[in-house]
Amino acid sequence: METPARRAHPARKRLVQLVAIVYLNGRYLPEDEACVPVLDRGFIFGDGVYEVIPAYGGHLFRLEQHLSRLDNSLAGIRLDNPMTHAQWAEVLEEIIRRNDGQDQSVYLQVTRGVAQRDHAFPDKVEQTVFVMANPMSPAADSLLKNGIAAITHEDIRWRYCHIKAIALLPNTLMRQVAREAGAAEAILYRDDKVTEGAASNVFIVKNGKILTPRKDECLLPGITRDLILEIGHDAGLDCIESDISLEQLTGADEIWVTSSTKEILPVTQLDGKPVGNGTPGPIWRDMLDRYQQHKHLLRDGSAR
Ligand code: PDD
Repeated sequence: METPARRAHPARKRLVQLVAIVYLNGRYLPEDEACVPVLDRGFIFGDGVYEVIPAYGGHLFRLEQHLSRLDNSLAGIRLDNPMTHAQWAEVLEEIIRRNDGQDQSVYLQVTRGVAQRDHAFPDKVEQTVFVMANPMSPAADSLLKNGIAAITHEDIRWRYCHIKAIALLPNTLMRQVAREAGAAEAILYRDDKVTEGAASNVFIVKNGKILTPRKDECLLPGITRDLILEIGHDAGLDCIESDISLEQLTGADEIWVTSSTKEILPVTQLDGKPVGNGTPGPIWRDMLDRYQQHKHLLRDGSAR
């Protein structure tokens, strides 16, 4: 019988009658049997961090980079990593294998565990560790052909946005504002400087130059962002990490948003106005092709 938990995940309907298997504190379980106590600090305070790692053809993409960002996020909230990188790799690979083994996004979360509600940390901490995998499909042709709409929104988040914290309420609020405006993403700014998207990093193209904000505490150091810069530099493209003002954003020839699950999406409308000529730009197309080539190398086992 279909349970409510299963109905909540329509994406899973694509899987051939597979029951989603998740990992929780050392055990592999059907998703609807995995339960966390109500006093978990992740539930009560949003006290935890997470990662989303794509897997193509069953191979985890940029795993070391994701795990090292996890180390930084955990250090940022003063929580020990409950597992070594080798142990993480083992669990993540097992989750991929136990689900459909192909293109998936693997979500992992570590919280400060279960304790009586008190803001300060509990003395003895046993982290809660949760991992799940969701099927991941390539961006729809219509998105690649027409691009997406975005809005600009003041960045209302806290000051430690380099930590991939599970407390995402501001991000969800801003993404919802975007949705209600008929847009797919909110591009955020703080003091007139673009930081990132509600769940993505931002690039602009102006006169052939590719620009993205420098990494600092105002944005998440995106793994996709870094890979794009790496690919761009290798290809001899002009890639620059620098401040981007709102004026530069609105006057850009191209705008892209990037993330592990959405890869590189062209923004063709910003606040209801066309970006450039209102269609996905040539530099985006070139970068997307190079990104896809990189993914194919991973499928062959010759890239990470
Ligand atoms: N989010 N910035 C924010 C605020 C994000 O939430 C994300 C990704 C990124 C891009 O990071 P990466 O390239 O490493 O995926 C930037 C994930 C996908 C999520 O929350 O689902």
